[in-house]
Amino acid sequence: MFPLIFALSVAALTATRVNAHGYVQEVVIGDTHYTGYLPYQDPYYPVPPERIIRPIPGNGPVTDLSLIDVQCNGYTDGGVIGSKPAPLFAPVAAGQEIKLNWTTWPDSHVGPMITYLARAPTDITQWMPGNAAVWFKVAESGKTADGKWAATDLLSAADSIYTFTIPPEAQGWTIHHSARDLLRSIALHGAFEYPGAQDYPSCIQIEVSGSGNALPTDGLVSFPGAYTEDTPGIVFDVYDDPSLPYPIPGPAVWTGGN
Ligand SMILES: *[C@@H]1O[C@H](CO)[C@@H](O)[C@H](O)[C@H]1NC(C)=O
Repeated sequence: MFPLIFALSVAALTATRVNAHGYVQEVVIGDTHYTGYLPYQDPYYPVPPERIIRPIPGNGPVTDLSLIDVQCNGYTDGGVIGSKPAPLFAPVAAGQEIKLNWTTWPDSHVGPMITYLARAPTDITQWMPGNAAVWFKVAESGKTADGKWAATDLLSAADSIYTFTIPPEAQGWTIHHSARDLLRSIALHGAFEYPGAQDYPSCIQIEVSGSGNALPTDGLVSFPGAYTEDTPGIVFDVYDDPSLPYPIPGPAVWTGGN
């Protein structure tokens, strides 16, 4: 299975387009720290370090939601094909927390954080989901009743650490403890018009262990596909009225009941 994180960050950008900026620099599972894919360092090593996060071109966003780039923040052209696999994956137990350490998030980039998983049908270090509907939402955080956004407010308050939990029901997505999982992390921000919302996806490869066997059979979505210009929460003016609730895009969070 592939856990996928969507951090959707909607910032009200005025005429000045802030070109900015963030990615997951570290993943912490239990006591283990995994360095993320570092787009300004990793490609320049003679032998690039092996990572659990799929390569990204830089710290910038994806705004065209129809591109494959919206899957894992890979280039459509220019060397990194969307969702190009990473060589490693991290073991995690069903029910365990995963902490994502984001680079410092720009204050202006308010918006939600959304997490999806997908189960890899084959070796996750080879698999490219393409347009297949394989993703299901496992966590989301938008705007609190008192107007605090998942990003930047809550993220900053947590030292740029975003935490989510692998659903306990998602145990043993293969019976040999060998479910290969890809975690996708997308932050989307900037969205009073389309294209405007900025999507910062990050695909993290994990392997979920456990002895259960639940998996959603319907409501799976594709990336690209799940979000369009018309999806509630994609176009949203954060400056409009701070008391206005924010509709988090995408399907309901999967709770294990299918
Ligand atoms: C996040 O990762 C950076 C880079 O590895 C590190 O310096 C920083 O201490 C980490 N933040 C936390 C809260 O662990």
